[in-house]
Amino acid sequence: MYESRGGYRAVRKALKMTPDEVVAEVKKANLRGRGGAGFPAGVKWGFLPKDRTTTLLCVNADESEPPTFSNRVLMEDDPHQLLEGTIITGYATQAQVAYIYMRVEFHEQFHILQKAIDEAYAAGYLGKKIFGSDYSLECYLHRGAGAYVCGEETGLIESLEGRRGWPRIKPPFPAVEGAFRRPTVVNNVETLSCVPHIIERGADWFAGIGPPHSTGPKLFCISGPVSKPGCYEAAMEITVGELIERDDMGGGMLPGRKVKAVFPGGVSMGALTADELDMKMDFVDPGNYGLLGLGTAAAMVVDQDTDMRMVLRNVARFFGTESCGQCTHCREGTAWMYRIATRMEEGAGRIEDLDILLETARNMGMMPGLSICGLPDGATFPIETIVKKFRSELEEAIRAQAPGRVEAVLSAVN
Ligand SMILES: Cc1cc2nc3c(=O)[nH]c(=O)nc-3n(C[C@H](O)[C@H](O)[C@H](O)COP(=O)(O)O)c2cc1C
Ligand code: SF4
Repeated sequence: MYESRGGYRAVRKALKMTPDEVVAEVKKANLRGRGGAGFPAGVKWGFLPKDRTTTLLCVNADESEPPTFSNRVLMEDDPHQLLEGTIITGYATQAQVAYIYMRVEFHEQFHILQKAIDEAYAAGYLGKKIFGSDYSLECYLHRGAGAYVCGEETGLIESLEGRRGWPRIKPPFPAVEGAFRRPTVVNNVETLSCVPHIIERGADWFAGIGPPHSTGPKLFCISGPVSKPGCYEAAMEITVGELIERDDMGGGMLPGRKVKAVFPGGVSMGALTADELDMKMDFVDPGNYGLLGLGTAAAMVVDQDTDMRMVLRNVARFFGTESCGQCTHCREGTAWMYRIATRMEEGAGRIEDLDILLETARNMGMMPGLSICGLPDGATFPIETIVKKFRSELEEAIRAQAPGRVEAVLSAVN
């Protein structure tokens, strides 16, 4: 089916180009990584040492960011597109082996993708001298145990090597010393799924979609109390409001429900208020709204009846549970934030807890140089934006608490 619709044409074309020409085309298209950080793919490939003898490619199919499911959709509906992107990227970087690292929860997708890999081997599209060329690529599907931090590229590599998925201190970056201490490229499923289209239709076609800093088609997820939760494709020009309201996307809020907050880039990017829905879903605009970035472009909508203390506690719980524990600020900070948020939700919050949350958040993460990986940056942006943007609601809830509750809970804890 994939092939009858033009699939595997791009890889045949790529194999007639030199690897450097493929890299140059992807650079020209300004394909930015879809996994969260938005780093230009072609530039990353260019970091591989020129004198290397081995190159490995890791396809990041961990998709751990709540509430993101676009990689899952791509693997379910178009597994050969991902394989074609993997083969072209493998050729461009001269990789000998590609590992697709998938979280264990993806049961069905595992079987779908494994079947596609088997088909590609049988057709001679993977393995030795693929498509009759001199290029060979082996491809393995590897299942992780399902931890958020295994989506971080060096946590993924550690897990792939059979160890606990603890992120590594960088440098060295994976391009220089990655899986099995070999030069390694790590790219997201959606990033690689864009590559065949860049080769087939050209960099100018890709760069012509969306603004210059955010090129190409993009998948957007939407979940929460909207009429049509799902995964939609658009240029990175749409606003959060359009994603919610457009008939061909979210289809508007469910009857009687109104937007109170939206986490537009996955939970870790932070929250918008209902007055900020004009934010563009591109790589630049989220920064203008106090968010960490576009992230995974998966919008989660929160409605007017939801208590923001519950959202705060839920988010804090997730990151408190998922911290791998190597770095003190991340391990202790996420746990503190969870404890404070839990106490607040139980009706025993203090006004000063809001400032303690903000101060704790300011003292964690890679950005202040206090952690090995970016998990705490993603843990603090939702906390900070909830506290800053919904402070009056949180203060009102604290003032409405039963008298004596704080003292009772704190004395029980101490
Ligand atoms: C805590 C944490 C979790 C991450 N989870 C994922 C993930 O599930 N999938 C993903 O592609 N990237 C994830 N990333 C980003 C990866 O480290 C890496 O930047 C990405 O896979 C590179 O691919 P790209 O350049 O194609 O986006 C995560 C980063 C951090 C800090
Ligand atoms: S920042 Fe947190 S998740 Fe990342 S390595 Fe340190 S403790 Fe682990």
